[in-house]
Parts: sequence; C-alpha cells; structure tokens
Amino acid sequence: MDLFEYRDGDLCCEDVRLSDLADETGTPAYVYSAGTLLRHYRAIADAFAPLDPTICFSVKSLANVHVLKLLASAGSGFDVVSGGEIARVLAAGGEMSRVVFAGVGKNDSEIEFAIASGVGMFNVESAAEFENLSRLASLGGKKVHAALRINPDVYDPATHRYTTTGKKETKFGVDIDRAGRFFETYGRDPHVELDGIHLHIGSPIYSPQPYVQAVTKAMDLAETLCEKGFQVRSLNLGGGYAADYDQGASPRAETYAEALVPLLKDKNLRVLLEPGRQISCNAGVLLTRVLYVKQGGGKKFLIVDAAMTDLLRPALYEAEHFVYPARLPDGASPPERRIAFASEGGEKVDIVGGVCETSDFLATDRVLPPMRRGDLLAVFSAGAYGFVMSSHYNSRPNAAEVLVQGDSWRVIRRRENYDDLFAAELDV
Ligand code: LLP
Repeated sequence: MDLFEYRDGDLCCEDVRLSDLADETGTPAYVYSAGTLLRHYRAIADAFAPLDPTICFSVKSLANVHVLKLLASAGSGFDVVSGGEIARVLAAGGEMSRVVFAGVGKNDSEIEFAIASGVGMFNVESAAEFENLSRLASLGGKKVHAALRINPDVYDPATHRYTTTGKKETKFGVDIDRAGRFFETYGRDPHVELDGIHLHIGSPIYSPQPYVQAVTKAMDLAETLCEKGFQVRSLNLGGGYAADYDQGASPRAETYAEALVPLLKDKNLRVLLEPGRQISCNAGVLLTRVLYVKQGGGKKFLIVDAAMTDLLRPALYEAEHFVYPARLPDGASPPERRIAFASEGGEKVDIVGGVCETSDFLATDRVLPPMRRGDLLAVFSAGAYGFVMSSHYNSRPNAAEVLVQGDSWRVIRRRENYDDLFAAELDV
C-alpha cells in the first residue's frame, strides 16, 4: 500500500535511504512519499469512479502547501475548516470551486474570505450559522452554495470517543430529525442556495456499515425533501475512511465503494468525499534520534528528540503507531509492520520525548533491537494528524517536513529556529 520498505537493512522511502536523508536534514523530521500520496488518492478515485465523485482531500490531516499542490495536480479538491486552510489551498493553486468549507465555528472574516475566494460549497452546521452566512453573502452581493451537515445518529464503536461525530449528542451538524424543518426555514434563501446534504460520522471508521446506515438515512431525507419541492443536488459523505495503523486492520477504498456505490449510482446526485488519513496517514513517517537510554524502576526508556509537540496522537488518544529503527542490526531481517511486533533478542522499551509531561510518549512497551544514543527511529503512519497537530509547548521549534519523489527529495518546510518561536511577540 505504501512506498516505505527496508532494503539491505535500511528503511527507504521510495528510492531514498532515510538514514542518509536524516544526516542532511537533522531530526525530528517528517518524511512524506509523493508516490504513496498519489497512489492512495487514485485508489479512492478509481474505486468510486462509477459515481464520478468530487474528492476533497481533508487539509486538516496534512496541510503542507507542497503536498496540496501535488494532490491538486492529480485533480483533488479540498475540504477546509478555517481561513488558514483556505489560504493554504490558494497558495497551492487549488481550484476553489472544488473546495468545501466545514466547521461549527466559522467566524465572519473566515466566511468573507471564503466568499471572496470563490469557495464552492459551505457545509453549514447550525441555523445561526446559516443566517450569518446569508447576511454576509448579501453584503458581499454574491450567491453561495451550501449543504446542510446532518447528524445521522450512527457511530462506529471502534472509533475513539474524541473523534466520533455522527451521534445526536455532538456539537457537529444538525439532528437528522430537524433537517426537514431547516430546509423549510432556509431552503428558499435568496443569498444562499441550500441544495446539498453533508455528513461526516467520525474517524477512523473501520467498516463500511456505518456509512451504509448514514447514507440510507440521508437518501430517505433527500427523497422527502424533493417531494416537498426542495432541490438536493449533492451528497457529501465526509471522511473517516480508515488507514492501516496496524497491518490488515483497515478496509481498502474498494470495500467502502462496493457497499456505497450501489446506494448512490444513477441517483442524479453529485457525490463528494472528504478523505484525509486514507490518503496521508501511511504516506508519512516521523524520523527521530535516540538522545539517551535510561532505566527507570523496571522500565527502560528511549528518550528521543521528537515529542508530543511533534506527534500528539499517542498522548491525546492513546493512539498506537508502529516504531522501528531506520537501520537494522547487521544480518537482521526486516520487521513485520505490526504494533505488537517483537524483535528477536530485543528489549522492551518506552519511547518518550523530552517534554515535561508524563503523557509525553510516542510508544510504550515495544520490543526493539538494543538501541544506543544517535540511533535513528521511524514512527510509521504519521502522515495524517502528525505535523499539523504540532505545538510549541516547552518552546520547542517545529520539525522539518520533507517530500520524497523517486530518488530525490526536498525540504518542504524548513525546521523552525528560535527566532520563529517569538517573532510574533517582537512584532508588536
Ligand atoms: N471531513 C470532516 C468534516 C472532518 O471533520 C474530518 C476529520 C474529515 C473529513 C477527515 O477525516 P479522515 O478521513 O482524515 O479520518 N486528530 C484525529 C482525527 C480528527 C478528525 C477530525 N475530522 C486523529 O488524529 O485521529
């Protein structure tokens, strides 16, 4: 599925040896594979081709302008949730009519910016937001398109409670039971053409079944609305298509498509998808070096130069990522890429960062070959919700980002320096 593999004992991204790359870029560094990003994008496009969908890559999962440029060149549209993300898509030269703007808390300047930039569709999440959008569209003298985000009240029990969004009790969207009334109140607005339905039931969703339930409910709603004389021209299925954090755990794009295409084919609806992690997750690794090896009680710690400020997911969701040395001990065979993989003759370690928080770990209880100061580790499946969730806590500069394509690579975000940390404080 992705283009990271061990060759002669060295982890390579496409045709680049990551230990060579790290010698030049320093660590921590995020490394993305262009070939993998494109391959994952095409897998979704091909699987859903019978619906001729608009694929809107979810910028929040991996927002680097150069990555957006790459995906735009493959035909991708974009799902954005802030003015900042709109600015990134503009900087990447994305086609704005293929941009959808979601989020429960769009502020006035973001809405004005989106209208002025020609964003294709607003995914509206409340009555109050709709009224504000209509007011701002009329002031700007422009008519805009909107889809109502509904809550179909389904959820995937496998999804972490922090990232499930399709249940009734959530701040996102509008209860499906209230959607009819919403269209009756706002469906004939002169400034906002409300002609679509949007869903996003959570992420990651490991089975097509919750989507099938949600789409079935949405199609019933669309039919009722059409009977009442409203136009429903588009259905946006959102994102959440899982990625493989642990081998074999995730369905492929075809599995979702096989379940969903029959429900949506020939329904005279424009279908939109907002995949994030299925494209970006396994297209990136985080490279980090061991600073110190330390014994603490019965535990052995590898203290590394990346931390929760670089990859927050383990601290925030107890998410697990496969972590392994980028260079194998002499004669060792490549590991199986499974979180529970135990290296033969290895030792059990916790891999932790240098931030002053006990929750600052990248992985716990992993059996790795014996590691020493200076050794390079790769944290896999880190392309999605990795760099984008970085912080400056403890005044740590953010990592570099690198894009590999074939046998060449380039830095697509330079490592931050100390001046970057407080430039905005001096600029007052
Ligand atoms: N569309 C909407 C409206 C969303 O809210 C999201 C993600 C997506 C699409 C893309 O979901 P994806 O296909 O990437 O699963 N930080 C968490 C994930 C939060 C997802 C928020 N919304 C994590 O690290 O797992």
